[in-house]
Amino acid sequence: MIGLIVGSGMQDLSLESERAQSVDTPFGTVEVLCGTLAQKPVALIKRHGKNHCLAPHQVPSRANIWAMKSLGVKSILATGTVGGMSGDHAPGHLSVPNQIVDYTVGRESSFWGTPGFESTHIDFTEPFDEALRAALLEAGKALKIFVTDGGVYACTQGPRLETAAEVRRMIMDGCDMVGMTAMPEAALARELGIGYGLLCASVNWAAGLSGTALTWDEIRQSMQKVCRYMQAVLAQAVARLPE
Ligand code: HPA
Repeated sequence: MIGLIVGSGMQDLSLESERAQSVDTPFGTVEVLCGTLAQKPVALIKRHGKNHCLAPHQVPSRANIWAMKSLGVKSILATGTVGGMSGDHAPGHLSVPNQIVDYTVGRESSFWGTPGFESTHIDFTEPFDEALRAALLEAGKALKIFVTDGGVYACTQGPRLETAAEVRRMIMDGCDMVGMTAMPEAALARELGIGYGLLCASVNWAAGLSGTALTWDEIRQSMQKVCRYMQAVLAQAVARLPE
């Protein structure tokens, strides 16, 4: 089964024949929406909760990924919004990153020590699953929606946005876009042997790059525009994946 974890701007995504299922995990109960998208059975988790009330640092990533595993999910397509830090990731662009730099602190980032989990140091050289990246990129091509192939995703702790100096530092570190949610999600999926691919929508220039302060209203408006395209690419990618 294909798992979907969607973030900001994708709160309205609904499935055909949708039904909510509560899945118990060692980390709490997770509400998963089961149904079909593009005629494929999928399990959908809204990362920020039903009413978008969970901040990025409060997302129960261990529970979410464990719940996906217990439902038999083999591949996860995730979405997230980001601030752009390079030309290919200007506001309005979609992208499928190929690398991550993790700047988060204090998040529960591993299943080590959990009964039933064989503790091991996962290889994370390539954090994203290539077949899932390809499905997202091909989906963009099929729909004639431009999707940038690759880019380094900087994951910050949030919930505040960055300082201009933090953004300059991340650019010097080689990062192209900044978001708050792909980690530890991507690493936890790898620990449980689940493939993970990420579709990003750039909704603003990162702090300090546009010459004006960031306002949440502007970010939200930009999100509404670009997330329509993100939904279309996501559904098309699901259609291209094996069940
Ligand atoms: N920074 C971090 N996360 C984000 C941003 C940003 O500028 N825009 C959307 N998500």
